[in-house]
Amino acid sequence: MIEIKTEEEIKNMRLAGRAVAESLAQIRDKIRPGMSTLDIDSIAVSVLEKMGAKPAFLGYRGYPATVCVSINEEVIHGIPSDKKIIKEGDLVSVDMGAIVNGFYGDAATTIPVGSIKPDEKKLLETTERALYEGLNAARDGARLGDVSNSIEKVASKKNLGVVREFTGHGIGRRLHEEPAIPNYGIAGTGPVLKYGMTIAIEPMFCLGSEEVKFLSDGWTVVTCDGLKSAHFEHTVLIREGECEILTKL
Ligand code: MF3
Ligand code: CO
Repeated sequence: MIEIKTEEEIKNMRLAGRAVAESLAQIRDKIRPGMSTLDIDSIAVSVLEKMGAKPAFLGYRGYPATVCVSINEEVIHGIPSDKKIIKEGDLVSVDMGAIVNGFYGDAATTIPVGSIKPDEKKLLETTERALYEGLNAARDGARLGDVSNSIEKVASKKNLGVVREFTGHGIGRRLHEEPAIPNYGIAGTGPVLKYGMTIAIEPMFCLGSEEVKFLSDGWTVVTCDGLKSAHFEHTVLIREGECEILTKL
């Protein structure tokens, strides 16, 4: 069952979403070559504290940090470390969640550090555009397959791989609720979206093959071919017409 949120619940999700958005904005602003991925985590920890929000990922299935920082061929769930140093030309995906009064927000963005290659720029732009195409399709009366299909079409047009093992998801009282939201699918199929549903849409695209594997830390997901990937995510409220993005400032 896909839960419908009340106005009160949505208010808390707005607060959680704002804490995530503010954290990601500060990280985007402060990221520099020479910083460690643990430094990125520290920025988020201090923003959440200031905003009275709790980290959503810390302790989730034993995850040990506040953010996921995934660099280049790392797709998602990179664990922050003081030994992992960001360098010029890296594509740094930062994913994080926050909790306010028991309600969750979840978002991700991929940040280019310094100058990057044209195909990498295309990867970032296309993945972010796919997120926004997905958001645009996500409205009261649409079907879930419409969202998935609109994301997949953007990748196909630009010849990018779509990661299939991981999906977007419902979100609210828990980080992951029903439904799962694949980044590929058939328009006109799947459950109908309704006002009051809250979902996280999160395309993950790759420059090469979409095949991924886990590293031995049990968390970090990387592309098998070692080519770069990107990840963008927002938590949104379904309503009539355009959805409301909850993880935006
Ligand atoms: N943002 C991820 C998702 O939407 C959650 C990361 S899993 C965690 O599924 F363990 F790191 F929290
Ligand atoms: Co998510």
